[in-house]
Amino acid sequence: MDKKNIDWENLTFAYTPTDKRYVANFKNGAWDEGGLTDEPNIVMSECAGVLQYAQTCFEGLKAYETADGRIVTFRPDLNADRLIDSAKRLVIPEFPKEKFLDAVDQLVAANAAWVPPYGTGATLYIRPFMFGISPVIGVKPADEYQFRMFCTPVGPYFKGGVKPIVIRVSDYDRAAPHGTGDIKAGLNYAMSLHVIQEAHDQGFGENMYLDPKTRTKVEETGGANFIFVTKDGTIVSPKSDSILPSITRRSLLYVAEHILGMKVEHREVLLSEVPEFVEAGLCGTAAVISPIGQINDHGKVINIPSGMDEMGPVLTKLRETLTGIQMGTVEAPEGWIREIKVK
Ligand code: PLP
Ligand code: COI
Repeated sequence: MDKKNIDWENLTFAYTPTDKRYVANFKNGAWDEGGLTDEPNIVMSECAGVLQYAQTCFEGLKAYETADGRIVTFRPDLNADRLIDSAKRLVIPEFPKEKFLDAVDQLVAANAAWVPPYGTGATLYIRPFMFGISPVIGVKPADEYQFRMFCTPVGPYFKGGVKPIVIRVSDYDRAAPHGTGDIKAGLNYAMSLHVIQEAHDQGFGENMYLDPKTRTKVEETGGANFIFVTKDGTIVSPKSDSILPSITRRSLLYVAEHILGMKVEHREVLLSEVPEFVEAGLCGTAAVISPIGQINDHGKVINIPSGMDEMGPVLTKLRETLTGIQMGTVEAPEGWIREIKVK
């Protein structure tokens, strides 16, 4: 199969429509068979549940070309599970896990020419999402839904790839106590747009959100969890009911503990202890691990000792191991890699 003629090395994190996408519809209480389509546009009622009351949730995962030329996805079963959790909270009918995995297989196989070649640094980002498509005007769940999954070749989420970024402590909260911070609801991202725009206008790459109740604990950014390294080499990641349970974070903590033999702590992290960490980064599907060089807390600057030039040695080791697993150069824990059969 010939790859598309794309400047893979210089891709950014942007949307490029590919040949095929997957669509399934929920009507009369059941999901239809679902299948691939060429049509990237959606026609719906002006009164659709998604347009009126933001009844929508999504996922993000990636497909990779491995060093030996196979195409694989990374832990898509966990994305299927998390989408079910998000859907339940938003009264969207669950999309069955087996159907989700089959949709990933079909979508990636049909777009194999769009999977960036091994070694280019680019990957195929897959975006599954679900939304209320039938009209609602009183505040209630829609009767009909659409599940879609498209993919797009992407480069690094942050400009400069693994160059450390500067972030600020946000005065806005991204989630309420007992709210929707732990699911991947579109509404969590809508409320973050003003905050990220303001951060960018002030010269920051991202926001550090604090816990909404006491504003003393570190939560996450708009699109990634945090990961820190202590002086003695322990990996620490914040635990909270109002952050998204990142699949990358869960995988990194496992890799650190079970493959690299490091000490890991998944626990509450106070903002006041951040100056004691020697490395800091963001982790997520889009972000992979992106290093943080400096955190600005209302004018009080916290310089992370790993500095502004490059990622620190511990996070570099973690990143290399994770991407090695994803690209087939490091042996993966059982069940983490799902190979796509390309016809
Ligand atoms: N936190 C938020 C708010 C996110 O949007 C994401 C992205 O999916 C993550 C964390 C990272 O999660 P994952 O590693 O599953 O991509
Ligand atoms: C992802 O990492 O997949 C996300 O959904 C984050 C988003 C901000 C791009």
